[in-house]
Amino acid sequence: MINKIHARIYRPERGWDPVPADYAQQYVEAVWRQVDEAWLDALARRIGGFEGKEVLDLGGGPGQYSVAFTKRGASVTWLDVSRNYLRIAQEKAKEAGVEVTFVLGYMDEAMQILRKQFDFVFNRICFCYSWNDASFVDIIYQLVRPGGYAYIETNNSSFGRDKLSPHARFRTWLNAALRIKIGHPHPPRGRIPMLFLRYPIKQMVVEYPGPHIDRIFVQRAEE
Ligand SMILES: C[S@@+](CC[C@H](N)C(=O)[O-])C[C@H]1O[C@@H](n2cnc3c(N)ncnc32)[C@H](O)[C@@H]1O
Repeated sequence: MINKIHARIYRPERGWDPVPADYAQQYVEAVWRQVDEAWLDALARRIGGFEGKEVLDLGGGPGQYSVAFTKRGASVTWLDVSRNYLRIAQEKAKEAGVEVTFVLGYMDEAMQILRKQFDFVFNRICFCYSWNDASFVDIIYQLVRPGGYAYIETNNSSFGRDKLSPHARFRTWLNAALRIKIGHPHPPRGRIPMLFLRYPIKQMVVEYPGPHIDRIFVQRAEE
């Protein structure tokens, strides 16, 4: 609720950007070097290849995955709230010589903005910025075509716990225990898979590559 009110006031189309330009530039250089083609090969095998697929890079930031998916033959829509990342991702796509559809907006409003479904929705390291864990899983589910796939990679609520201020720790607890989300606490481990189980799904693979990071891969049931 509080996050929704915040989003009513702070609008990207009116120039609001949560990511400072110098931070965005630094983050870009690091993450563009980190794209792991072997991992993308594995992801491609799971979704039956990128060729011809409509893909949504939800919270696409620097655009490294949007460009990688496009190079593999997908038709990609990048959506993010940051105008600084928009500019950088557009430049990167141009440098790479690929066409990506760029949309500035809140992830939580993706359904209203885009008004379409995708074969694959990719949401990496930005789940915490959603307004509410349960409603965001619902949005991701709705954005996926029947039979299509979603991938979420997120830090969980144990991430950086020791370094959190008492206030941030309290907000993490509020979200984990009472499902009241204020700001951007990470979801507790297991919450996202449990939320997806409320919907008809064909398969779900949950991986914990480390103690603080969770990967959830879901296929929506065919209708
Ligand atoms: C850590 S970056 C991850 C970017 C990219 N997905 C990646 O894997 O590198 C987090 C991204 O979430 C975006 N973001 C934060 N809040 C958002 C919101 N409410 N709606 C859309 N994007 C948001 C930021 O602008 C940033 O691009």
